Amino acid sequence: MHIIITGGSSGIGAAIAKIETQREAKVSIVGRREEPLRGLRAQILARDPSAQINTCVADVTDAAALASAIETCEKAFGPCDRLIAAAGIVEPGELISQDLETFRSQIETNLFGTVNAVRAVYSGMVQRQSGQIVIISSGAGLIGIHGYTAYCASKHALAGFAGALRQEAKPNGITVSICFPPDTETQQLAAELPLRPPAAAAIIGDAKAWPAAQVARMIVRSADRGRFEIYPGLKMALLGRFGALAAPVLRWYFDWKTAGVRRNQND
Ligand SMILES: NC(=O)c1ccc[n+]([C@@H]2O[C@H](COP(=O)([O-])OP(=O)(O)OC[C@H]3O[C@@H](n4cnc5c(N)ncnc54)[C@H](OP(=O)(O)O)[C@@H]3O)[C@@H](O)[C@H]2O)c1
Repeated sequence: MHIIITGGSSGIGAAIAKIETQREAKVSIVGRREEPLRGLRAQILARDPSAQINTCVADVTDAAALASAIETCEKAFGPCDRLIAAAGIVEPGELISQDLETFRSQIETNLFGTVNAVRAVYSGMVQRQSGQIVIISSGAGLIGIHGYTAYCASKHALAGFAGALRQEAKPNGITVSICFPPDTETQQLAAELPLRPPAAAAIIGDAKAWPAAQVARMIVRSADRGRFEIYPGLKMALLGRFGALAAPVLRWYFDWKTAGVRRNQND
């Protein structure tokens, strides 16, 4: 089994790479920077010299470069059986103060980066009438959060993309899954937290972030079972299943929290 993981050098993607190599899958990890890719490969090989892990440098926003990198991965390890589209970025900031380029780069990476990765493996999967596509969205793909207009837009878009793709892919023997992780202990979260606006922190609360390995285990288990929606934790599951019903109450609660933060700032 050949698994290609975009964003496989760090965080959730890296944790999935570790699990999959332990299960004796052939794993290709894709990222922009060579050093973290090589670092993870060395770490995995140090634990198990027989692990089959390949690295490919590519930026997911560059469709042609990504397609060529994935072609190289497939030449080495065979056709892609499972794509994990985990590459993603976040830069919180209120719309009023966020420049268009910062906004656009989150959409380009999170939405188009995923679309580019899917397009690179999809026609092969259709020809073979088999394959799995796993998309990593976010809890921010289930609800709007103050200070995350770009990130929420990109992650909500992935939910729509995955829902439509699932219908197109199923008759071709391809399963699609989408995961909505909560805060997870990764480099992305460490960089994000200092930039998180106080209103967002009040809304999101101070629940302990999930270990990346735990989220990864749940993604792998759910993908094995061909589940469409993957919700790590009760909060995400409730938001995913009942968020639309609860939206008026949630909006009231978020507004109340935001007003409280503003009051404190003005005191
Ligand atoms: N951590 C959380 O709290 C959390 C919560 C919900 C959802 N998520 C989502 O989970 C996914 C993984 O995030 P993470 O927290 O594991 O982040 P992370 O530790 O920062 O890892 C991100 C990975 O994506 C790669 N990447 C970023 N931009 C890329 C690009 N343009 N082209 C190719 N690779 C790129 C990074 O490598 P390079 O920098 O070398 O390219 C790295 O391997 C993301 O989609 C994120 O939005 C995270």
